[in-house]
Amino acid sequence: MVSRRALLRSAAIAAFASPLLEACTRSAEPTSNPTPSASTLGLSFPAGFVWGAATSAYQIEGAVAEDGRGPSIWDTFSHERGSIVDGSNGDVACDHYHRFETDLDIMRDLGIRSYRFSISWPRIMPSGTGSVNVKGVDFYKRLIDGLHSRGIAAVATLFHWDLPQPLQDKGGWENRDCASWFGDYAAAVFAALGPSVPTWLTINEPKTIVQVGYTYGSMAPGKRDSKAAAVASHHLALAHGRAVQAFRAANTGGRIGPALNLAPVYAASGFPSGAPDDAVRRQDGVENRLYLDPILTGSYPTDTAEFLGAAPFAALQAVIHDGDLAVIGAPVDVLGVNYYNPTIVDTGGSTVTKLPTSIAEWEQIYPQGLSDILTRLTREHPNLPLVVTENGIPNDGNDAADANDDERIGYLRDHLAAAHAAIEAGAKLEGYHLWSLLDNFEWAQGYTQRWGIVHVDFTTQQRTPKSSAHWYSGVISRNGV
Ligand code: GCO
Repeated sequence: MVSRRALLRSAAIAAFASPLLEACTRSAEPTSNPTPSASTLGLSFPAGFVWGAATSAYQIEGAVAEDGRGPSIWDTFSHERGSIVDGSNGDVACDHYHRFETDLDIMRDLGIRSYRFSISWPRIMPSGTGSVNVKGVDFYKRLIDGLHSRGIAAVATLFHWDLPQPLQDKGGWENRDCASWFGDYAAAVFAALGPSVPTWLTINEPKTIVQVGYTYGSMAPGKRDSKAAAVASHHLALAHGRAVQAFRAANTGGRIGPALNLAPVYAASGFPSGAPDDAVRRQDGVENRLYLDPILTGSYPTDTAEFLGAAPFAALQAVIHDGDLAVIGAPVDVLGVNYYNPTIVDTGGSTVTKLPTSIAEWEQIYPQGLSDILTRLTREHPNLPLVVTENGIPNDGNDAADANDDERIGYLRDHLAAAHAAIEAGAKLEGYHLWSLLDNFEWAQGYTQRWGIVHVDFTTQQRTPKSSAHWYSGVISRNGV
């Protein structure tokens, strides 16, 4: 089975090589670390710690041709033969567009206090630019009102990969103008919804777009070109900056930042406590610093040429204009951290699997990695509030509504214990959103991986909270694990 994050291995793409590439070649036994649902570790979180759950628009909404929504690159990609392992798409997904009140009720009943969702650019601006689709805006108004009336805070992501297809037709993220189009879209969203959303996230996981969308081609837009990836990487960073600019100009209150998937990197030799070597440093550039540094320090890492390689680095340099890094590096108010797995490299720079994985074979399970990345972030950026915006594990597509998901409970419990340890060590962590509220369309894996704490029967659209949902509800009410 080909992972959604890993498809192609060749010298041409080595510049963006990540451990995820290794996923194809692993003999990965799903981890089995069952945990009695009732056990607790006796760890209390600080008062006011925010307990949440996350989703994204294309993965749950469906209604792709309804109320004026335009096509996105994920509509195009998922309808291309062979791009999704089960031949599925997000046309209906969880039908959340029509059933959001039910989903909000489920969250309320579980005690979830914060909901991270994404806004669909092609629902707001069907052509990507120009006039705003009032019906699209109204959907998110109803969603946000529904959150407020249930006492759930809104965390809205502006972009979770569903680029309007007409913009891809003009070059997408390879076109510098895409950053400005994104800024204009963001301004329209802030004008319509700004005051009702306390936390905004700009772009979800630029690294995944760069690595998987542009380097390995196993996600939309399906390119395999490391130079295009480097160009897209800069334009995504610039788009983030343009959205922050639009947010400051809108002055609606609230806060804004990016959502980055970060992977602490470890030396294979002596793992987990082997001394970091040059291979670790380079891989850290590929995994983390290429995305963190422009936004948080206003500069690309000094060793970027070394870890990207000559041709992608030249392509990157060619698209950096004077003033870009000031826009990209303008202060943010919060950093969203998506954490799933560490990266382990040998001295030659090859990535290594040393740990059990989930059924997503790229996902080596290492809770300590969450603690390590959070404490590092606070060490390097002491005043920056951190929020975990994704963390979770899939079970397979055949799981029944009444099945126990003790493996997920164990995963979540261990990662929350790691988050707790990070807070104790001084990390400025304010909240946690598990991925995901609902089983949903898992990109190139279609419906074969179920990441939700709530089971969705995709035939009847029946929702059934899993054991993990009940367990998480207990965590929230105890404010601890
Ligand atoms: C990501 C995305 C989510 C995924 C989740 C599980 O992290 O890639 O933000 O949309 O569904 O990560 O793979």
